[in-house]
Amino acid sequence: MSFSSFELLDQSKPIVVFGRDGQVGKALQVCLKDLQVPVVFLGRSDCDLSNASAIRDMLNRYQPQVIINAAAYTAVDKAETEQEIAFAINAKAPQVMAYYIANVAHGILVHYSTDYVFADTKKTAYSEEDITGPVEQLSIYGQSKLAGEQAIEEAFNLAQDSGHTSYKDKFSRYFILRTSWVYGDGGNFIRTMLRLAGERDQLKVVADQIGVPSSAQWLAEVGIQLTGSRVESGIYHAVPDGETSWHGLAVFAIETAALAGEGIEVKPENMQAIPATDYPLPAKRPYNSRLSNQKLKQALSEMAFTGTYPHWQEQVAAYVKEYVTASLKS
Ligand SMILES: NC(=O)c1ccc[n+]([C@@H]2O[C@H](COP(=O)([O-])OP(=O)(O)OC[C@H]3O[C@@H](n4cnc5c(N)ncnc54)[C@H](OP(=O)(O)O)[C@@H]3O)[C@@H](O)[C@H]2O)c1
Repeated sequence: MSFSSFELLDQSKPIVVFGRDGQVGKALQVCLKDLQVPVVFLGRSDCDLSNASAIRDMLNRYQPQVIINAAAYTAVDKAETEQEIAFAINAKAPQVMAYYIANVAHGILVHYSTDYVFADTKKTAYSEEDITGPVEQLSIYGQSKLAGEQAIEEAFNLAQDSGHTSYKDKFSRYFILRTSWVYGDGGNFIRTMLRLAGERDQLKVVADQIGVPSSAQWLAEVGIQLTGSRVESGIYHAVPDGETSWHGLAVFAIETAALAGEGIEVKPENMQAIPATDYPLPAKRPYNSRLSNQKLKQALSEMAFTGTYPHWQEQVAAYVKEYVTASLKS
């Protein structure tokens, strides 16, 4: 990946990354390691994101021009009973980051969000213009992530209205990257399925929830590319091409692992497709998690993004072969 277009950035100011130890955070560490711009990676032990003044202290200390927020309260079911902490991390923390960076000339905030901001109001892919919610039909996690998006938009609108960034061409920007079904270096569905496939000869997997598996590595690359671009502020749906169900993803990952030589007990015909109602969980999950990626594709093509736009199968195949197989063997 080329980072030649970082001329808008003051190279003496660091990029601050929150969420260092998460799936996307670890992928950002890989992507940013050769960049000629100082980068500060912050994990929970450096800055507890439920503490707004700790975030402000960190930002005042490092004075970044770019913030990448890959941290989130992602325990979707636990959030149902931990509403306060979920909102502190998913809504208040990004708000603090946004207020800071919106008032920095050429400041940029990259923030990751989720398909859980939609509640099955459509049967086809959601565009960035589609109305979110209704809030009362979202999980607490979805509500808290939506509140985070809204807080970011409000902070940037306020900064621009008040003229804090004094010249129009110095306006700060935000990129909210809504994504779905993330997998990388961390606990995720694909890893769980591959582990179970090595232990059991029968598996039941939900087949009526549809979405797009998204690689953490690719999400990190997209976030960094946008940081170095002149692309307009806003929400972007960041998912590869294609769609599948959890069952479809499990079958594909297990077949790929079997072909790669992994010890797999379960045969694809013994992977039973079940409805989500047979696997009840505390938090509501959308049946339709499809996100249209047209706006992102257009933005990437305008900034001469090198390489073809990925399909989820090609990314999952590479992940299963190169990463999961190796880590399961170690
Ligand atoms: N995973 C998915 O399937 C999915 C789907 C759609 C959207 N997203 C979004 O994509 C982004 C990245 O997700 P991910 O899968 O990379 O998440 P992840 O692996 O769960 O990582 C989240 C990170 O946030 C950190 N964090 C949580 N609470 C914190 C606190 N109080 N203070 C400081 N750090 C804290 C965690 O720290 P520790 O490592 O110390 O726990 C962890 O490193 C998030 O915005 C998420 O909402 C994810």
